[in-house]
Amino acid sequence: MDIQFKEVGYAYQGFKKQYHALKNINLEIEKEGEFIAIVGQTGSGKSTLVQHLNALMKPTSGTINILGTVLPSKKKIKVNHLRQKVGLVFQFPEYQLFEENILKDVEFGPSNFKETKDHKTEYAKKSLKLVGIDESLYEESPFRISGGQMRRVAIAGILAMNPNILVLDEPTRGLDPQGKDDIMDLFNEIHVQEHKTIIMITHDMDIVAKYAKRVVVLNQGEIVFDGKKDDLFQHEDFHTFHLDYPTHMRMMNHLHETLGIKKKFVKNQDELLSYLKEVFK
Ligand SMILES: Nc1ncnc2c1ncn2[C@@H]1O[C@H](COP(=O)(O)OP(=O)(O)OP(=O)(O)O)[C@@H](O)[C@H]1O
Ligand SMILES: [Mg+2]
Repeated sequence: MDIQFKEVGYAYQGFKKQYHALKNINLEIEKEGEFIAIVGQTGSGKSTLVQHLNALMKPTSGTINILGTVLPSKKKIKVNHLRQKVGLVFQFPEYQLFEENILKDVEFGPSNFKETKDHKTEYAKKSLKLVGIDESLYEESPFRISGGQMRRVAIAGILAMNPNILVLDEPTRGLDPQGKDDIMDLFNEIHVQEHKTIIMITHDMDIVAKYAKRVVVLNQGEIVFDGKKDDLFQHEDFHTFHLDYPTHMRMMNHLHETLGIKKKFVKNQDELLSYLKEVFK
């Protein structure tokens, strides 16, 4: 197993008391072939959890093994290399752009690691191409492009480090529908072509239904579900997870309530349409 959480807890140290943001987390993740959506209500601990994946945060109880490095460690150990292996794209990553031009900004990540340093320009150009940023923009300031383009540049900066695992904290938030589709197709392409594991926080159940293979549901700092998305959406305790159903399932429920159509589990809009054609034949 490439990443393994064992009874991980994390408590934020407040002024007077602690806040237990993660409790008894047991989780195993492979570095290849997974596409995991992390979902749950606001404040359920999603961002706290993913920041443990590249050692940005360390458990206050339990242990986490990241590609052979066990944390927390009594000895002082280097964790910097994990930042290259597990690429973390924060929520609104565009706020972290800082260089004078786009190419330099994307080169910054790979320039920090021995694995990628010598090829930083090559990797940066390849990543910019992948996210759809044209060569004519390389010399442009990252602050003089649109918000959607800034997001792409920031994501290219992480891709240029050539991580094994890509972790994304709400990458589609604030993007228009086309921007959402484009960026999701990009992650899917990386996942399908390079078999990289993608771990993505999202509130968007349509994205979960379309792209994820596995879903981890957090509720008040605890994992309440970890399994296949089809099992999640058919779970009898679904209402206790405080999640929405994807659009096609909400439509099915609506058709059931308004027209009395018999409910059937459908995985996407196409399945819903075929079912309706069947019903109205
Ligand atoms: N720096 C901090 N100090 C104290 N408490 C914090 C801190 N950061 C987060 N918390 C608390 O920890 C809990 C989990 O926060 P986290 O950001 O992981 O939630 P989340 O699931 O990512 O939420 P969202 O969907 O809103 O992004 C929240 O109750 C939050 O108030
Ligand atoms: Mg968050």
